[in-house]
Parts: sequence; structure tokens; C-alpha cells
Amino acid sequence: MLTLTQIKKHPQILEFIKQTELTLAELSYTDHGFRHANLVAERAGKIAKEIGLSQRDGEIAAIAGFCHDMGNFLSRSYHNYFGALLFQQVFGNDFNPKELVIIMQTIANHDKRKKEVSFASSASAIVILADKSDVHRSRVIVQKMEEIKADIHDRVNYATRSSRLEIDKNKKRITLILRIDTNFVPIMEYFEIFTNRMVFCRRAAEYLGYDFGLVINKFRLL
Ligand SMILES: [Fe+2]
Ligand SMILES: [Fe+2]
Repeated sequence: MLTLTQIKKHPQILEFIKQTELTLAELSYTDHGFRHANLVAERAGKIAKEIGLSQRDGEIAAIAGFCHDMGNFLSRSYHNYFGALLFQQVFGNDFNPKELVIIMQTIANHDKRKKEVSFASSASAIVILADKSDVHRSRVIVQKMEEIKADIHDRVNYATRSSRLEIDKNKKRITLILRIDTNFVPIMEYFEIFTNRMVFCRRAAEYLGYDFGLVINKFRLL
């Protein structure tokens, strides 16, 4: 059974992520490379642990989290499907069929349209939460202030000073806690681009048996 540590050392996976990082930087997208892959893997593992999944289920969610964006070097459109298929091509014989399918579905599911998102496993819900909650200044690739200000995704990410998930197992609530510099962007801009993400997070939390909460600058909005 392969572990996250082994996946993180696999030369093909590393190259997919490296090329994804370069391809999307070229397009001035926010970071989808190693920083994001590691963060989503780590956050997925943490959520799984905190909600009480088995060690192996947590490992599966973290592996899918690490690989979820690696298809971007082929194409931004459909990168979720390319990523899932690449995973199968590289590791088709290294996972049992059940684990393989869960990881493939989880990667494919992370960027589907609203109507098509379906949660077939805890891993797919966990990776949505881990991925969609990664909003942060360090994701912004472009460096010139005029360029940052010109793009709403860059503006909102740049203004986000901290972003973390808090899991309350007793109250059955997963809360995204953000600190946004409102001198830089009005909160409204956050909702302009992230309302869909919040809907996905709520559905993912519900699948896991949790409510989803949102706190921005100490105000509870959900
Ligand atoms: Fe993605
Ligand atoms: Fe992502």
C-alpha cells in the first residue's frame, strides 16, 4: 500500500506538479503548484483525523489532495479529469481497485460544475473542503501591485492574511475562519468569487455529517 510520503517522491508526480506550477504561473493564475498541493494534502489529512476517520482513509484523502491539481499542466479546462486519469496511469497497479477509484473520483470531483458534484466518499468531501479553503496572500503569483489589483482572484487572495478550518466534533461544525484586509478589498468581492466555493464546502460538510460555518474578521456569517 503506497503512502503519501512515497507519492510525494514519485518522479512523474513531481514533474506533473512542477509543470502545473509553471504552466499556471505563465497564465498568471494563483498558485496551483507544490505550495497548494502540500497544503491541501496536509489539510485533508488533518480534517480526516479530526473527524475520526481511520488512518488509511486519512492517507487516501491526503494522497488525492496532493494530486488533485496535477492535471493542470495538460489543460486548465478538465484538469480534474486529466488528473484522475493520470493518477490511474501512474499508479494503476499500486493501489487496490477500491482505493484507486476513490482517489480518482476525489480528484475528478474537486472541480466539477455545481450540478455535477457528488460525494462518493469521505475523501471527496474532505478534499473539497481542503482545496476550497486555500485562499491566501501566498497564493498570489504576480508581483506588481497594478497586476494584483487588476484581477479579482489576486486581489482577494492577496487581501487574505489567514485562512484556516476549525473542526468542532462535539457541535458537529466545520468553520472556515478568514482574516481579510478590508482596506485592500471590500468583503463583497470575496463573495463575488467565492460564493460557489462556500456552497461546495457546505455540501461537503453535510456529507460528513457536519454544518459549515464561515467567520470573516471575527464576524460569524454562516
Ligand atoms: Fe483544481
Ligand atoms: Fe486546488
